[in-house]
Amino acid sequence: MKVYTLFLFFVAAFFVLVFLSSSAIAAESIYICRPCSRSFIPEMNEVISNLGLEDTLQVKATSCLGYCDEPYVLKFRDQIYRNMDKALLEAMLKDAFQIE
Ligand code: FES
Repeated sequence: MKVYTLFLFFVAAFFVLVFLSSSAIAAESIYICRPCSRSFIPEMNEVISNLGLEDTLQVKATSCLGYCDEPYVLKFRDQIYRNMDKALLEAMLKDAFQIE
């Protein structure tokens, strides 16, 4: 009986771990150019948090995105966004995630 209980515990733990790791992988990434735009990261996180996307969208810093004279520069869903500010980011994310 104890072996059977232990087996059930490990099976349940396995499925919990699989669920947690798959939800972490499911988070989408938005990339910000670290060299020219990293000072925008706190504002990005604020917008993401205000839209309730903190579990859905993850900010990652990256190397130069090729538009160095037009900060803030972001990459999202294989598209480059230049001259970003909070208002533009908020509009872009609302559109991308269909938030009213
Ligand atoms: S340094 Fe930011 S786009 Fe090149």
